[in-house]
Amino acid sequence: MKPAPMPKLLYGTAWKKDATADLVFLALKTGFRGIDTAAQPRHYQEHLVAEGVKRAIFSGILTRADLFIQTKFTSIGGQDPDNLPYDPQAPLEEQVHASVASSLRNFAGADSDGSYVDSLVLHSPLRTLPDTVKVWKTLETYVPRRIRQLGISNTTLEVVDYLYTSPDITVRPACVQNRFYPATRWEVGLRKYCRERDIKFQTFWTLSGNPQLLRSAPVRKLANSANVEPPVALYALVLGLGGTAVLDGTTSETHMRDDLRGIEIVKDHAESEEGRPIWSECLGGFRQLIGEE
Ligand SMILES: NC(=O)c1ccc[n+]([C@@H]2O[C@H](COP(=O)([O-])OP(=O)(O)OC[C@H]3O[C@@H](n4cnc5c(N)ncnc54)[C@H](OP(=O)(O)O)[C@@H]3O)[C@@H](O)[C@H]2O)c1
Repeated sequence: MKPAPMPKLLYGTAWKKDATADLVFLALKTGFRGIDTAAQPRHYQEHLVAEGVKRAIFSGILTRADLFIQTKFTSIGGQDPDNLPYDPQAPLEEQVHASVASSLRNFAGADSDGSYVDSLVLHSPLRTLPDTVKVWKTLETYVPRRIRQLGISNTTLEVVDYLYTSPDITVRPACVQNRFYPATRWEVGLRKYCRERDIKFQTFWTLSGNPQLLRSAPVRKLANSANVEPPVALYALVLGLGGTAVLDGTTSETHMRDDLRGIEIVKDHAESEEGRPIWSECLGGFRQLIGEE
């Protein structure tokens, strides 16, 4: 019961409100094969994400097995207290069970074998490590049947290291989802840690957090040389760092198409005789800019 392979670009479903189902359907029709959502009604309409997914499956665009679906458990601190997928007075373990049950209910009907998600991400560590471990241990009880793999978001290296090394933990983290931006120095240390342990690092704020990278020489040179737009060149360079996947929440059909096609155009360019030295120079320059070397 392995998860579907994690695609390079995951379609991000935050803040799409009533347009969520239509945008998810459009993203899948355009070629996205990974979806990121959360049981956090304040920012995500998970039931509408599921509606878009089912519409795409029933239209024959893809099968459930083609799709990597990722959702999250969000603790009380990240929730709208008036709109929650669990009873905030219930013990932590019950909150997790209720949240997972509501996610599985949303995606029920997408697969004849019963509902499952490929990845469930703890939206952020809780206030204390024992509470984080309590939530993680509860999530572990669903792996691999209902949840194929676990991950953690908005985290530090210390918490990831605990989850990766502690004898208390049975299911090791398969992915980390954090901001990719200057304030954390683009997570050079955490990404190295993850890369060395085959933990996928998913980036968000990749465009919005990096106006200076979008204007930088390596991004502009790669964009010119591969004939893609700077956002696509930036996505391609982030993917070129290795062990990464990018969350892309565009609402534009043109950007969806350009991003999916563009990262493949850059890949082909990087492997061509003419493009290889330029790719290597741009990736080297990009690594330097973010302090990776
Ligand atoms: N774990 C967490 O706490 C957390 C926090 C935030 C986000 N996320 C996840 O990450 C996803 C992405 O969020 P994000 O904050 O990184 O930003 P985003 O939602 O991907 O926003 C990208 C912005 O850049 C614009 N843009 C311009 N050219 C683009 C291009 N070629 N491709 C894509 N966008 C382009 C988009 O406008 P257009 O719409 O016009 O293209 C949009 O305004 C979310 O939906 C969510 O799934 C997770």
